[in-house]
Amino acid sequence: MFISFEGIDKCGKSTQMDLFTRYLEENAIEYTRVREPGGTELGERIRQILLHQEHQEMCARSELLLFLASRAQLVESVIKKALSEDKVVVADRFAHSSIAYQGCGRGLGMKTVRILNDFATDMVYPEIVFFIDIPPEVAIERLENSGEGGKDRIEKEQIEFWERVRGCYLEMAREYSQFVRIDGMLGVDQIHERIIREFQQRYNK
Ligand code: TYD
Repeated sequence: MFISFEGIDKCGKSTQMDLFTRYLEENAIEYTRVREPGGTELGERIRQILLHQEHQEMCARSELLLFLASRAQLVESVIKKALSEDKVVVADRFAHSSIAYQGCGRGLGMKTVRILNDFATDMVYPEIVFFIDIPPEVAIERLENSGEGGKDRIEKEQIEFWERVRGCYLEMAREYSQFVRIDGMLGVDQIHERIIREFQQRYNK
């Protein structure tokens, strides 16, 4: 089973992924955890290019293609193999991040990104997408509190950008049955319980 975690920056994804993978371990469910961009040697190098502040000149199409290159490599070298071994793949972001960030945030259009995602993923897509939803104001507040030095190139964006990205996630949550929208303003434990409940309902079906 393939599961991804999505949401705007600072939504609490990492905390929930830690709790979820701990649950898998406690239940002796084998899993592979990956992150995007990254997750392979090539992908980690692409990640450095994408997030480094020195690349301010990067245009939206280059940005998208770099994310897609990292994704294609991850699918080919890690995800397909793990799925063929019946492992649960737990991905920190996947194709839907590109639809939200590049398709809507950068304005390249959802349709274009969907077509390119189909190519990059070789049609390998998650069966569950946990979308942890927080308002952009909260994301910005959390980004401010983490200090200017800690911000990467994408995190320096303004509120309108985060509103577009979030709006896109909400639209996908309405459109795709794989999406599970979870209110990210709930307590950590409540969010975790909701994730486990959904997983149990869908696992092994
Ligand atoms: P990261 O530090 O991993 O952030 P987070 O913990 O929020 O996932 O950086 C990933 C950044 O890249 C994040 O700002 C989202 C962005 N991103 C895209 O814009 N498009 C994509 O396709 C992916 C996978 C990530």
